[in-house]
Amino acid sequence: MSVCKDKKSMCYNEVSKIELPKIKDLRGNLSFLEEHKHIPFKINRVYWIYDVPGGEERGGHAFVNTNEFIIPLSGGFKVEVIEGEKNSNFQLDTTNHGLFIPKMTWRKITGFLSNSVCLVVTDTKHKDSEYVRDYMEYIKLLKKE
Ligand code: TYD
Repeated sequence: MSVCKDKKSMCYNEVSKIELPKIKDLRGNLSFLEEHKHIPFKINRVYWIYDVPGGEERGGHAFVNTNEFIIPLSGGFKVEVIEGEKNSNFQLDTTNHGLFIPKMTWRKITGFLSNSVCLVVTDTKHKDSEYVRDYMEYIKLLKKE
């Protein structure tokens, strides 16, 4: 994955909150995203996490070659990420703000509010071999890169 080419181009290599368009309307608001325009990859899969019991966590792994964009369709949650040696937390609770997470980022989703829906858009099909579930293995792979 290439690094940011200039200040205007979308960063492909770091976790970034991205604001999506919001078409305000008295009948209700509308937001959308288009591949390569609002998110820096081609969409191959969309999945969503919902009915999460209070106190539960999701994730706790990294993906070898999968880039993701996470949107809080309703409710809210916290995304904890580790990029190499840098830890960051992002609170997602605004429907038109999503989080871009590049491949090889360790990520965990916690603090789900009730009735939250977490939409994940990715550029790969589901494959078990994409997952790095062991944190020590993740660190080893990072050092190899
Ligand atoms: P997993 O990605 O481990 O969930 P999370 O990271 O949110 O804790 O997925 C849970 C199960 O669902 C696992 O058995 C794989 C399956 N799954 C699919 O079949 N397709 C998919 O697109 C995803 C994301 C998961």
